[in-house]
Amino acid sequence: NQERSFIMVKPDGVERGLVGEIVSRFEKRGFKILALQLIHPSAELLQEHYKDLADKPFFPKLLAYMQSGPVAAFVIQGKGAVKIGRVMLGATNPQDSAPGTIRADFALDIGKNVCHGSDSVESAEREVALWFGDNIKSYSRAV
Ligand code: CMP
Repeated sequence: NQERSFIMVKPDGVERGLVGEIVSRFEKRGFKILALQLIHPSAELLQEHYKDLADKPFFPKLLAYMQSGPVAAFVIQGKGAVKIGRVMLGATNPQDSAPGTIRADFALDIGKNVCHGSDSVESAEREVALWFGDNIKSYSRAV
């Protein structure tokens, strides 16, 4: 139950005022928020975050979109954080997201899908360290 995942409200979600709603869903589900920041990410940070997608045709558009405004990056902690985090976000393409998921409730377009969540425990550790630094390894909250 110390599992962690990295969740991010993307620029369109921040612009539309969805940060509170999205953070609230994770809190109400029972996850602890370990860290949270509203930041305007640099190109370098985004290139590192999305390095596995560097060869994709949509990569330049993705980077431009992710730099179009601040993002709300946060870390959730709790049992099944990675898997449940993904389920709560819904399928990457909002056209395929199940009703009741964040993307189905707030998005229509895969290019503006409102939020990101780590896709494995390994990527979660990498992304949490990338966005919040190594110090976060010592953070913990009772669950
Ligand atoms: P995310 O969960 O942040 O992980 C990779 C992101 O790439 C994904 O959400 C989408 O925002 C984006 N993405 C994936 N496929 C496409 C696509 N076909 N066109 C535009 N963006 C995409």
